[in-house]
Amino acid sequence: MSTARNFDIEKIRKDFPILNQEIYDKPLIYFDNAATTQKPQQVIDKITEIYSFENSNIHRGIHYLSERLTERYENARIAIQSFINAKKPEEVIFTNGTTHSINAVAYSFGEKFIKEGDEVIISEMEHHANIVPWQTVCKRKQASLRYIPINEHGELKLDEYKKLLNDKTRIVSVTHVSNTLGTINDIQEIIRLAHERNIPVLIDGAQSIQHMAVDVQSLDCDFFAFSGHKVYGPNGTGVLYGKEQWLEELPPYQTGGEMIKKVTLSNTTFNDLPLKFEAGTPNYVGAIGMAQALDYLSGIGLSGIFEHEEQMLDYATKKLKEIDGLRIYGTAERKISVVSFLLGDIHPYDTGMVVDKMGIALRTGHHCTEPLIDHFKIPGTVRASFAIYNTKEEINALYESLLKTKQMFA
Ligand code: ALA
Repeated sequence: MSTARNFDIEKIRKDFPILNQEIYDKPLIYFDNAATTQKPQQVIDKITEIYSFENSNIHRGIHYLSERLTERYENARIAIQSFINAKKPEEVIFTNGTTHSINAVAYSFGEKFIKEGDEVIISEMEHHANIVPWQTVCKRKQASLRYIPINEHGELKLDEYKKLLNDKTRIVSVTHVSNTLGTINDIQEIIRLAHERNIPVLIDGAQSIQHMAVDVQSLDCDFFAFSGHKVYGPNGTGVLYGKEQWLEELPPYQTGGEMIKKVTLSNTTFNDLPLKFEAGTPNYVGAIGMAQALDYLSGIGLSGIFEHEEQMLDYATKKLKEIDGLRIYGTAERKISVVSFLLGDIHPYDTGMVVDKMGIALRTGHHCTEPLIDHFKIPGTVRASFAIYNTKEEINALYESLLKTKQMFA
């Protein structure tokens, strides 16, 4: 199998037990990685190890198990701090995923800093998780939500963005990478322009961190959100990175145990960072599993991953374009390994269902980006999204399956 330099695809594939099975008597080909990635044995083993030998509630016990697991949980925080190059571990808040992270900021920031007549900027290509929380806060506060438009390639129109920024803008919240189109946005420039006016920026990193190195200090973003399950880690885990100065200022989004310093019948004082934002028993097993997944990725190397996935993207784009009548949505200059398409006038669900019977998992529909799909005036797309374990041979199988689908509907 041809692949990027220093990238041992055979070895990587062996790390993922789920790939070693047949679906409808065909070897499973998993191309739904933007929805969720599969888990390497190293992550599965770590979770089993904790439940088998180490489980205990953290931050609460003075007994051996509790203290040992508290230390592992806090070490996981330090590992994630280092992975995204945050200044301090206190800037890493464990959440249950990107949606939770964005909701936390939208609620807390909205409570404190957004008032009637203010404006919030997002974009037309956002996932619902980065639209609905802002719509909700804007309605609650009688503020306006403004959208950065996109061009026909699915790239943000930065000239229009510049015009949207004004003295009423309180926050900008945009995705690093589009889950539907694969576009890599120029977030460095988006952040720079907002900061010229002292406007903070949240980056939705759900679709970027598994594909490329992210350095929150060099990006200078104020918040960065991502999910563990999309980065080869456990389901129900995620991170909210926030600059310390912002996290200190924002009120907590959820209240309860662990996030307090002192509770009396008449008042509560809140805990220091990061616990102020981690009410209740956290998903400590998941957090440690997520750190294990990031360690696994670091072992492979983010640059090798990017190179391999770029090869997958280039190959798939070239191959799929050979199919007469296939239209690709998302033709930005800079993309990650996502190809969204329609096959003639075959409904995306029909394509997805037929291809599934050939053992190939694709996603179909609006991909939780209805405004973006409406922009293109289509019913949805078929989406193939590639990860570290995918191969050109699998893309050839997709190509063949699409030709058969076309014949069936001819
Ligand atoms: N946000 C996920 C996707 O794009 C579920 O499929």
